[in-house]
Amino acid sequence: MREDIRIVGFLCNWCSYAGADLAGVSRLEYPANLRIIRVMCSSRVDPIFVLKAFKEGADGVLVAGCRLGECHYIEGNFYTRRRFSMLKRILEYVGIEKERLRVEWISSSEGERFRSIIEEMTSEIKKLGKLNLDKYEGN
Ligand code: FES
Repeated sequence: MREDIRIVGFLCNWCSYAGADLAGVSRLEYPANLRIIRVMCSSRVDPIFVLKAFKEGADGVLVAGCRLGECHYIEGNFYTRRRFSMLKRILEYVGIEKERLRVEWISSSEGERFRSIIEEMTSEIKKLGKLNLDKYEGN
């Protein structure tokens, strides 16, 4: 039996989580591969959380926050953008496809956008296949 892929989504409370909620309330269907973790701001997501998610079995990680300029903590998502563009480079350096980490800005009114991002990401990760960390030494 082929195990299905797992995606962990860190969603900021004020925008992306509300967008996911809107998708649910609007009864928009999206793949059930996503496990949501609500955080107060995307800048709360330490890159270590992402690495830990991969280590614990996630095949993809989504970090989603408010649109740039709309963060409830003023410039939190600018830190997020900088931090995760760096982490993507590090992932690539160690041989993990950068597409496994996605950063998106989704407002509370964008339920449909949330749905389409999850659908697109799920299909991309399925193409990449499960993340096999066993190939890394010391794992
Ligand atoms: Fe949403 Fe900061 S509060 S990204």
